[in-house]
Amino acid sequence: MKTTDSKKETTSKTGVKAGVTKPKSDAASGLTELFEDGLKDIYWAEKALTKALPKMAINATSKELVEALNKHLTETEGQISRLEQVFELAGQKATAKKCDAMAGLIEEGDGILEETEIGVVRDAGIIAACQKIEHYEIATYGTLRQFAETLGMSEAASLLEQTLEEEKGADVALTIVAVNAVNLEAAEAD
Ligand SMILES: [Fe+2]
Ligand SMILES: [Fe+2]
Repeated sequence: MKTTDSKKETTSKTGVKAGVTKPKSDAASGLTELFEDGLKDIYWAEKALTKALPKMAINATSKELVEALNKHLTETEGQISRLEQVFELAGQKATAKKCDAMAGLIEEGDGILEETEIGVVRDAGIIAACQKIEHYEIATYGTLRQFAETLGMSEAASLLEQTLEEEKGADVALTIVAVNAVNLEAAEAD
């Protein structure tokens, strides 16, 4: 039921609307800072993935899946070097800042390993966890590339674009493994 109260703008004495988050003292003041914060986040995430991907590969049984994970591990190492180049182009030291989203996605992947027996069902779970990770990376690199373009950093934008394409490729490769090699067998294990 509508009340007249709901139409009222609740503002504090400082003129800030109620419910609006108060920023920390070191909050980003512009797009450059937001861009640099994003780089630090994904730098942490990629480094964490160089530990998570081998764990997934050890736990996978499908030859195609193991190959896809190992190939993407090599790509991930290259993506870390590419990020270091982007930091350099931005005149920044390469620094990692914990990415809570990636930490959560990796934790979810660990949970899937604990909840499944080794075999096709675990393989299907690994693919599901990895595709969530790839989609997170696709969203992140899409944003960062756009930020770089807006900031006139075309070389950085092109490096980020290369990584974006690799993440999309990894996602497609995982879909192919799921469709051709894993999911049907996993369903038969029901
Ligand atoms: Fe990546
Ligand atoms: Fe990736």
